[in-house]
Amino acid sequence: MTTATTEPVHLPPGPRAPKALQGLAMLVARHGAFAALARRYGSAFTVNIPVFGQMVVVSSPTDVKELFSSSRDLVGRPTNNLGDVLGSGSTFALDGDELHARRRLLLPPFHGKGMRSYETITEEEVLREIATWPEGREFQTLEPMMRISLNTILRAVFGAAGAELEELRTLMPVAVEFGSKIALMPAAVRRDLGPWSPGGRFAQYRRRMDQLIASLIADARSDPNFEERQDVLTLLLQARYEDGSPISDTHIADELLTLLVAGHETTSAQLSWAIERIRRHPELLERLAAEVDAGGSELRQATISEVQRTRPVLTAALRRTRTRIKLGEWVIPEDTTVMASIQLALAAEGNFPDADVFNPDRFIGAPASPFAFIPFGGGMMRCVGASFATMEMDVALRTMLRELRFEPTNAPGERRHTRGVSIAPGRGGRAVVHRRKTAASTGSQAVSAAERA
Ligand code: HEM
Repeated sequence: MTTATTEPVHLPPGPRAPKALQGLAMLVARHGAFAALARRYGSAFTVNIPVFGQMVVVSSPTDVKELFSSSRDLVGRPTNNLGDVLGSGSTFALDGDELHARRRLLLPPFHGKGMRSYETITEEEVLREIATWPEGREFQTLEPMMRISLNTILRAVFGAAGAELEELRTLMPVAVEFGSKIALMPAAVRRDLGPWSPGGRFAQYRRRMDQLIASLIADARSDPNFEERQDVLTLLLQARYEDGSPISDTHIADELLTLLVAGHETTSAQLSWAIERIRRHPELLERLAAEVDAGGSELRQATISEVQRTRPVLTAALRRTRTRIKLGEWVIPEDTTVMASIQLALAAEGNFPDADVFNPDRFIGAPASPFAFIPFGGGMMRCVGASFATMEMDVALRTMLRELRFEPTNAPGERRHTRGVSIAPGRGGRAVVHRRKTAASTGSQAVSAAERA
């Protein structure tokens, strides 16, 4: 267990190159640089890079477990611009007891009976999207997956419908892309210095998003079925802290945007990787289609886990020490960033034998250790939307495999491309599909049902 200590600092080994040079290596080849450092120094090492300064990187299940189980008095959230950009009510701006209290309210909506209705929404959105896909011609799946995950979040999380849904569909991608760019800029550039400044432009987007969210909140409150509604927005309006107080409307707005920013690009990039991976494994493709036809799900779920393991879209879970701590054999000073490397934990031979091989069967009947299989991070900051994302990926893949036959390919795997927050397939997860005519496929009928929704 991590403890506070007064012992002398004892950091894991690491490169001695100047900070700027180490930073450059990370920038040019983040993935390769981390893999090379792990080969040289083992599962724990220290790097020194611009912005983060001295950063301890851990990846063995014992160190990861200790880090994720650390008390919130010892370890907290590193400073991040996302919190500033999304607002003081965003999870990304909260830490310690405040974060703990918020997460107690935020997690139930993602595990409750709403999940069934979210499944229906996801399936409708997938059917609507794939109805437009060309047959027999290569196209990239990343943008379509982005539309599926955006629409699913807007309907399931924001409870949006009608004109508000239509406006949010177009406003959100532009605003989120712009917001993630300015989140990387220094605070001075993010300030609102009039409509032509970057900060001013973002403030305009934000005002419009806030108006739309305020109107969704008003719609939900005046809905005669308020008590029965299952969208996350309504569940957050109904939620109460331990002292009986509600989450304020402005905090709900910040939180909804947070869920969209955290959940939109990550899920779509992961789905696009799923297509990229399964097309390169023809036998698996056949088994997956046969399983869907037989109404099964085990192999599909194992495949999603293996896609997440071999092509994680987020590669790090970051914490900051509040005091000098002892973690494993290391003594780490106060105010130091500690990274649980998702990339290294998922690629470690000790955690996953033949780690380089894409083999979904490794997960069948053998659930992985929660401190080795960490695509959603862990502990007090574990991904709030993990079950939602897992459901969404499963339903999306199930629906696509039921309705479409994916052509296998022997083209080399797509390279990793960092875009905004997540790592996506460099060529957009290309696919060639043909429509299937099976007893289970719903085809155009279901599409019109989705359109009516
Ligand atoms: C495949 C899809 C996704 C992946 C791989 C993913 C992964 C992650 C990871 C690695 C973290 C950091 C965890 C940590 O520091 O321990 C995180 C945080 C978070 N995720 Fe996800 N995520 C996904 C989808 C979603 C979805 C769909 C939502 C919401 C609808 C969501 C909401 C959040 C939030 C709010 C946080 C911040 C939690 C906190 O700091 O307390 N994510 N996610």
